[in-house]
Amino acid sequence: MTAQHTLAMIKPDGVRKRLVGEIIGRYEKAGLQVATMKMFHMTKREAESFYKVHSDKSFFDSLTDFMSSGPIIALVLRGENAISKNRELMGATNPKEAVEGTIRKAFASDIEKNIVHGSDAPETAEKEIRFFFSDLDILRSNP
Ligand code: RTP
Ligand code: MG
Repeated sequence: MTAQHTLAMIKPDGVRKRLVGEIIGRYEKAGLQVATMKMFHMTKREAESFYKVHSDKSFFDSLTDFMSSGPIIALVLRGENAISKNRELMGATNPKEAVEGTIRKAFASDIEKNIVHGSDAPETAEKEIRFFFSDLDILRSNP
C-alpha cells in the first residue's frame, strides 16, 4: 500500500481550547506523520470558499462565521489510509454520536464547534491540500 495524504484542520475552538498539542499527538500516535502545517486566520470569504460544498445548507453562514472567528491550524497528514484513519480519529460530526476515544467525543461542544476537520475522500483531500499548501511546502518538510 502506498501512503496517502489528507488535509486536517484544528478549528478555531480547538486552538482556543489549547488542544493543538493534544490533537497532533493523537495523529502521531495513530501512525500519521505531519507532512507540513501552518496557522491561518481565514477571512469570511476564505471560509466560504473552503466550505463551498455546503453553500446551500442552512448552517453555511453560521459555519463560515465560526471558521473565520479565529486562527486554525491546517496540516497535511501522511500515512497508510491517512484519509479514513483521520476520519476515525475525529469521530462523527455530531459529538453526541461520536464514539468514545475520538477527538470530537472528548472535546467538541456541539455539531458546529467540533474541533477538527478532515478530508473525506482522495479528491477532496487533493483539493483541500491545494487550498492551503503548495507542492513545495510538502516537499521541503519531507526531503
Ligand atoms: P468537516 O468537513 O469539518 O471535517 O466535518 P464533517 O465532514 O464531519 O461534516 P460536514 O457534513 O462536512 O459538515 C462540515 C461542518 O459544518 C458544520 N455543521 N454544522 N449545524 C449543523 O447541522 C451542522 N452540520 C455540520 C460542522 O462544523 C461540520 O464539521
Ligand atoms: Mg466534511
